[in-house]
Amino acid sequence: MMRIFYFLLPIILLFHGFHCVAFAAVADDQFAFSSFHDAGLNLDGTATVTPEGLLELTNGSVQLKGHAFFPAPFRLRRSPGGAVQSFSASFVFGIVSTYPSLSCHGIAFVVAPSKNFSTALAAQYMGLANIDNNGNASNHIFATELDTMQNIEFEDIDNNHVGVNIDGLRSVQSHTAGYYGNSKNDSFQSISLISGDVMQAWVDYDGELARIDVAIAPVQMSKPARPLVSATYNLSDVLTEQQYIGFSSATGPINSRHYILGWSFGVNQPAPAIDIAKLPKLPRLGSKPRSKVQEILTPIGVATFLLALGIVAVLLARKRLRYAELREDWEVEYGPHRFSYKDLFHATNGFHDKHLLGAGGFGRVYKGVLQTSKLEVAVKRVSHESRQGMKEFVAEVVSIGHIRHRNLVQLLGYCRRKGELLLVYGYMPNGSLDKYLHYEREKSVLNWVHRFQIIKGVASGLLYLHDKWEKVVIHRDVKASNVLLDREMNGRLGDFGLSRLYDHGTDPQTTHMVGTMGYMAPELVRTGKASPPTDVFAFGTFLLEVTCGQRPIREDAQGEHFLLVDWVLEHWHGGTLLKTVDPRLQGHYNVEEVCLVLKLGLLCSHPYNNARPSMQQVMEYLDGDTPLPELTSTHLSFNVMALLKNKGFDPHIMAYHPSSVVSIGTISDLSGGR
Ligand SMILES: *[C@@H]1O[C@H](CO)[C@@H](O)[C@H](O)[C@H]1NC(C)=O
Ligand SMILES: *[C@@H]1O[C@H](CO)[C@@H](O)[C@H](O)[C@H]1NC(C)=O
Ligand SMILES: *[C@@H]1O[C@H](CO)[C@@H](O)[C@H](O)[C@H]1NC(C)=O
Ligand SMILES: *[C@@H]1O[C@H](CO)[C@@H](O)[C@H](O)[C@H]1NC(C)=O
Ligand SMILES: *[C@@H]1O[C@H](CO)[C@@H](O)[C@H](O)[C@H]1NC(C)=O
Repeated sequence: MMRIFYFLLPIILLFHGFHCVAFAAVADDQFAFSSFHDAGLNLDGTATVTPEGLLELTNGSVQLKGHAFFPAPFRLRRSPGGAVQSFSASFVFGIVSTYPSLSCHGIAFVVAPSKNFSTALAAQYMGLANIDNNGNASNHIFATELDTMQNIEFEDIDNNHVGVNIDGLRSVQSHTAGYYGNSKNDSFQSISLISGDVMQAWVDYDGELARIDVAIAPVQMSKPARPLVSATYNLSDVLTEQQYIGFSSATGPINSRHYILGWSFGVNQPAPAIDIAKLPKLPRLGSKPRSKVQEILTPIGVATFLLALGIVAVLLARKRLRYAELREDWEVEYGPHRFSYKDLFHATNGFHDKHLLGAGGFGRVYKGVLQTSKLEVAVKRVSHESRQGMKEFVAEVVSIGHIRHRNLVQLLGYCRRKGELLLVYGYMPNGSLDKYLHYEREKSVLNWVHRFQIIKGVASGLLYLHDKWEKVVIHRDVKASNVLLDREMNGRLGDFGLSRLYDHGTDPQTTHMVGTMGYMAPELVRTGKASPPTDVFAFGTFLLEVTCGQRPIREDAQGEHFLLVDWVLEHWHGGTLLKTVDPRLQGHYNVEEVCLVLKLGLLCSHPYNNARPSMQQVMEYLDGDTPLPELTSTHLSFNVMALLKNKGFDPHIMAYHPSSVVSIGTISDLSGGR
């Protein structure tokens, strides 16, 4: 094959009439590009070479992929069927994102048997694979990913990592982006792939040892002595006879631009050095050319100028006030998760009522479109006067922001003003579930298949919060109005952890109780202490709510209030369980599933917390992996309202729940009257 390569290079050189400064070095099995003008790479998708000579893999459009391959294949095996020889690649790259703390999805250096990636997907698949062939050994792909998003499905360690991948997106080995210092000081220095800074990467395969070493460093640094990722993997078992080498990149919902500035490659020898001085410049967002004032101002001109200056100063001061934020020293480390108030203000047209999505949970929610990234978001404004607990809360918001799960609404970041906290979430086009359950005229009736899918989704989201994430997150406010529906009508839990903001007292006696009436477990009402079982209780009520199409606190014809749980329990005792099913389903449902969900709802809302199943068990029951245990007669009916009497329920907190089923005032009157 190298013969083909020998022929090819002179042809490329001749063809381009020797403009080829790009070929700093051309030798046997190696190349080096410090500009891509005349590199003759095969490009597809969004990939182009810019007038400056940069290889632009993605172009600022969302959900697209781009590839660039060296045109001729390499034969990396010494002889047909022989072992894969050593090879080295080095490239200089930069990622320019319109949004400083979010970018997706990264760049991959690829060694593949074909240049045709037409069936690969964008977004988290990075243009390398698709749902069906991800990880399949028939892909014969070796890749090094510079990944700027954390994808749980591929077990990504974080949203800023370098990984060695075989045949798919799951890394054999990965490490947070950074480098180990020079030989004198071996400490780890992390770097942000999406900083917009230019960086260099080295990928070396040692055929003798079957070892893959990857390192990255800021462009002005030489190659670090110690690699960042070192994986032992015999590529002889992966690669086919002939291989194409190149890059793959993709964008997801955020329009990032992924650039390669220079690239070199060598077989059985180190990749030639890239001449950093010759590299084209990476474009920066937001830099504006300055113009010089060259006129000589007359005295009148000066006066006008000063007056104008004064007006501008006043306007600026007003503007500053308008967009004023609260920022404290401890927040510095959360910088990337902070949104500016100005951006949120513009995104929501100044929090215009037209953009109001709802006023539930802890505050008003607005729909917005971030101007730079065109990302659709939901912005929640939460009033919060006290600074106490804010630090812990923001730490939690930021850590929760790292959670990605298809049944959880993603928290993108926050912003703080005086007396106010703004939380930015991914936008859910189909709104919240309670609208479908309780306002029949507004939305069409949800059929059982959808309801069951939503139930399973919410269970899986809650299980993730309880058991699967790095630390236990208690939701504290599971209810239908906190379940949002995405484009495919999957249920996603929102608002998790928010109630914690009001729940930071160390003394349980003074702890404010937070939750929504009808969803609160008896022990939560008693002690104010939230736990996974109190979430399970609320989930049980949620199951009944979705199946019966009724609110958790019902009002009968006589105006008496009683709990949905008690009503369903009565019917269960009387053997008429199916009478509780939402009449709007008109009998169109799977009887087994409905009975399972109703009984599970009763089991989860058991008054004794140790009788409730864990979310892991709930998931097994819902999936039919484990049969539901028989309900026993110890399942007592109970009355939260009576319990509430004389307990420290904070009406102030309830005031933040405009969507609460019954206000605290009503409840106390009610229980007082009994
Ligand atoms: C990016 O490339 C795609 C496909 O070539 C094209 O449709 C799109 O308009 C381009 N976007 C920009 C911002 O140039
Ligand atoms: C790439 O592969 C797809 C599907 O396998 C095929 O339809 C398409 O023609 C191929 N493209 C090229 C340029 O070979
Ligand atoms: C891997 O891909 C091959 C060829 O496309 C296919 O026959 C095989 O079923 C796939 N294996 C798995 C586990 O999906
Ligand atoms: C190594 O460098 C890091 C950061 O540059 C510094 O914090 C650390 O103190 C250094 N350690 C030694 C032993 O010099
Ligand atoms: C890698 O695999 C090839 C072919 O299976 C074998 O010849 C070679 O010895 C292996 N290399 C190492 C280091 O194990």
